[in-house]
Amino acid sequence: MTDRLRVRVLNGPNLNMLGLREPERYGSMTLAQIDASLVARADELNADIVSSQHNGEGDLVDAIQAAVSESFDGLLINPAAYTHTSVAIRDALLAIGLPTVEVHLTNTHAREDFRHTSLIADVALARVMGFGAQGYLYGLDGLVRHLRAG
Ligand code: DQA
Repeated sequence: MTDRLRVRVLNGPNLNMLGLREPERYGSMTLAQIDASLVARADELNADIVSSQHNGEGDLVDAIQAAVSESFDGLLINPAAYTHTSVAIRDALLAIGLPTVEVHLTNTHAREDFRHTSLIADVALARVMGFGAQGYLYGLDGLVRHLRAG
């Protein structure tokens, strides 16, 4: 088996409320349950994940910047509302240059106009949206496959 990969998983504001937050839209799984499913899938893929959630934009920027010195191979990120507004998160992703998969629980293009723009869409390796919590697992699979191919 090849080397074990390290994947950083980052979640933005209000995703700590999953399970309680608009369950008809975002589903009933908590973020802890999503993280547990990612840990299990990562292990099958011979990878380790480190997950965290941040309500603050600067905290997300700090975590993205740290990903290189912390020896991560790639990033899975749901920037939540900051997807649509944050030049700082976009710039941080460009600064580190790690392969990044953008994940959204919902299909943001089927929602309000202001959610149709993603400031990270064109700097991401790929985007997964509309599959609910399962989308994180699809994103992880695709990211690991990409990293192993590279
Ligand atoms: C979200 C979509 C965003 O528009 C919203 O602000 C979120 C969650 C999603 O996963 O569907 O907080 O990123």
